[in-house]
Formats: sequence, structure tokens, C-alpha cells
Amino acid sequence: MNSFLDIHTTDKAELRGMIDNARRMKDARNGLPKGAPDAEQPLKNRMVALIFEKPSTRTRVSFDLGVRQMGGQTMVLSGKEMQLGHGETIADTARVLSRYVDLIMIRTFEEATLLEMAEHASVPVINGLTNRTHPCQIMADVMTFEEHRGPIAGRKVVWSGDGNNVCCSMIHAAGQFGYDFVFTGPPTLDPEREAVDFARAQGVQVAIERDPAKAVEGADLVVTDTWVSMHDPQSARERRHNQLRPYQVNEALMGLAKPGALFMHCLPAHRDDEVTSAVMDGPNSVIFDEAENRLHAQKAVMRWCLGV
Ligand code: CP
Ligand code: NVA
Repeated sequence: MNSFLDIHTTDKAELRGMIDNARRMKDARNGLPKGAPDAEQPLKNRMVALIFEKPSTRTRVSFDLGVRQMGGQTMVLSGKEMQLGHGETIADTARVLSRYVDLIMIRTFEEATLLEMAEHASVPVINGLTNRTHPCQIMADVMTFEEHRGPIAGRKVVWSGDGNNVCCSMIHAAGQFGYDFVFTGPPTLDPEREAVDFARAQGVQVAIERDPAKAVEGADLVVTDTWVSMHDPQSARERRHNQLRPYQVNEALMGLAKPGALFMHCLPAHRDDEVTSAVMDGPNSVIFDEAENRLHAQKAVMRWCLGV
């Protein structure tokens, strides 16, 4: 039994195996209607709890659909409507849910909640986003890059904007999948030091460059995300917008990257804030492939967790 808590805490070879499996499963579904079952039904008679303490479109729909395609069933639970939101401890919730379901996916605020859930559950737990990381997203992103451009190892990935949870997982993945990473954004929104140190310790280059034009030189992939995340106070919105405006991904910035450089965004996007519509809808944008690949990547993650 394996929990999928983060990219830096999961073995490199296991991560690679999950990406390869996701590709294989995606190919195997080629041409099938979305609601049709997979030929293999590894989650037959399995029940999966999907807990959301924050809003979600992609994570919710892709996990739910993925479980169904593999023959399992889901319960989608809102944290607020559970006793969890009314004072029952995370540890007790984990012990109770473990008596009912085979797998728990949770989207929450503090990383400590995820870790406590995993510690006390006797079934695997998957991180569906915390304030600190979003590993499922980056598994889909690595898969998406490789579908379009081949191996991501040795490539240059540039993040422009807020050094947030998605950025943190992308830095972890730099270390695990072997690509170089450049962050460009204002100093107050730098990514966490621990993630940068982790990636560097795996032998890849991680740089911080304040000038976005210099940062994107030679980039194979340019990535951004919302300027205000779900856990950020709305009162910070105006200050963040002012600080981050120079880091907007627009056609001028993409024009300085390597010709044919891909653009990614985990979505939801705020069009014409962190990225222009011209880039989002442009020829090198793979944002909807990323969204689709959440489904395939997470199916591979769930199989790995359950060993099926
Ligand atoms: N990218 C992502 O996790 O989207 P949702 O918030 O819609 O799940
Ligand atoms: N950084 C964003 C990602 C949403 C999928 C957030 O945490 O709100």
C-alpha cells in the first residue's frame, strides 16, 4: 500500500513507471466513449472517497471519472459538510473512513492535514492539492510535455509569476525527472527554499532570475498559474496583481523563449491577468491536454497506490 503525498517523497523510478502506465492506459482508451469502461477493471468493487475542503473542477471530475472507468465507485465529500469541518479530528476521520473505503483523495489547506490523514488511515491517501503542493497536477504536466516534445530530462522549464503550490511541485519534479528550472517573479513570492534545495541536490540547475525576458531565454516550456491562490487572502489581491504584472505571460515573452516552446497552466486561469488569451489559445498552448491528462495520470497514481 502506497500513499501518493508528494513528488519529492515518491521514488523516481516509481514516478516514471506511473507516467509510462498513464500513457499506456490513455492509448488503450483511444476512440472509446468517455463513459465506457477500460478493458482492464483494476478498481472493480473498490470504493474511493474524494474529499474537498476547497473548490475544484478538474480534480473532482477527473478523479471521479478515472475511478469509474477502472470499474470502481466514488463518494465525493465536501469537508464542510463532514464532521471533519465541525471539530472531529483528522486522525479519527482517517480511521473511520478506512473502515469504509479503499482509497482517500483529499484536497485541503494545510499540508499537516494531509500528513495526519495519511498517518492514521490504513488505506492509501492521495494529495489532491494543499497550500504547499499539487503533485497530481505535475504528473499530468510531465506526461503532457513528453507527449508533445519527448523526454523532459535535460530540458529547461521556466515558471513566471507566483512561487506557489503548483510551482513547488514543479520544482520537486525537476529533481525527480531531471530538468532544469528557472523561477522568475518578485522576491516576496519566491518558491520555498526547501524545494529548491531538494531539486539542486538531485543534480539539476534551479535558478532565480528577476528579469522575465532573461529567464525565458532557451526555455522549452513556460508555465504560470493564478496570481492569487485559493489559500491567499483576498485582501492581498491588489498588491499581488501590482507585483506580478511584469511577469504576465504574453506573446512578447513567449517570443523570447525557444521557438516552439510550449505553454502550460494548471487552470483555472484568469485570462489577461497572468496570461493573455492570445497565449492560452495560441498554437503552443497545451492547457487542455494538461487538463485531460489529469485523468490518465491520476488513474496510474491510483493503481500504484492500490498495487493493482
Ligand atoms: N488544476 C486543478 O487542480 O484544477 P481544479 O482546481 O479545478 O481541480
Ligand atoms: N495555485 C492554485 C492552483 C489551483 C489548481 C491554488 O492553489 O488556488
